[in-house]
Amino acid sequence: MNTELLKKLTQCDSASGNEDNIAALITEAVSGYADEIYRDAIGNLIVHKKGSGKKLVFAAHMDEIGVVVTFVDEKGFLRFSNVGGLYNKELLGRKVRFADGTIGVIGTEKENSKLQIRNMYLDIGAKNREEAEKVAGVGATGCFVGDFFQNGEVMISKAMDNRAGCYVLIEALKQAKTENDLYFIFTAQEEVGLRGAKTAAFDLDADLAIAVDVTDTGDTPNGETMAVELGKGAAIKVMDRSIICDSTMRSTLIALAKKYKIPYQLEVMTDGGTDAGALHLTRSGIRTGGISIPTRYIHSPSEMVHTKDLEAAIALTVAFADVQEL
Ligand code: CO
Ligand code: ZN
Repeated sequence: MNTELLKKLTQCDSASGNEDNIAALITEAVSGYADEIYRDAIGNLIVHKKGSGKKLVFAAHMDEIGVVVTFVDEKGFLRFSNVGGLYNKELLGRKVRFADGTIGVIGTEKENSKLQIRNMYLDIGAKNREEAEKVAGVGATGCFVGDFFQNGEVMISKAMDNRAGCYVLIEALKQAKTENDLYFIFTAQEEVGLRGAKTAAFDLDADLAIAVDVTDTGDTPNGETMAVELGKGAAIKVMDRSIICDSTMRSTLIALAKKYKIPYQLEVMTDGGTDAGALHLTRSGIRTGGISIPTRYIHSPSEMVHTKDLEAAIALTVAFADVQEL
């Protein structure tokens, strides 16, 4: 487990549409392991390891949720909107970091008890509008602050969604030994609607595709009824709100997990989707599967993952990279 790399990936601030920072970091991490590395027009980072066999696309989104400034008032308080899905109930007191490192705290109007983003503001301690605009004017994006911690085999940070997936693809790229033609794509703008994956999937026209992303768990006190548990292995996606995975992809992943003794579990996520949704609907359709990382507290600044699940997801990705039978 390369904890230092995962820490760097999660602590990098790159909200949807502002993927330059994280793309630079991933480019550095994969250099020397790829034949071709490039960004496309929408901001995806494409990492190609050439081969003569099947053309496989592995996708992990590299953007993260955040906020965008919509208005700055005369006292220097910032109004904002969401970039990606935020839970209004969890926002008060949260810290947001802007590009220059300035931290803002989310507060809410006292008279307006409804916890809606339109009643909230970001306080960067500015004296007035002019001072605030020097840090974050209209259109500036910020990312949530959530430091990286490790408790034994468990790791906690902001943006495990989906830097954990990026980590899995980076490590899988380093380990993969195959004649297949591999594209590891680090997609942009997933959190606002699977946008990067859409264009990349069309362009690459793969034989088979796999999305690697986080998934919910059902193992917390009175949590939702869901079969996925932290630490029980890579989750093989059956379906989420964006896809019903190709059954042969699913059965092949299960067979590979059994063959290589990789711990796995089956995932049905009833909330949210993944890049798999965009990947399988391109052109005349592409057989697509999903390898998911069980994660607690998704879209909070304290997303929790387990080392064993990451290792299992890497092993399963490496095994699938050499797939022959499909
Ligand atoms: Co997400
Ligand atoms: Zn995600």
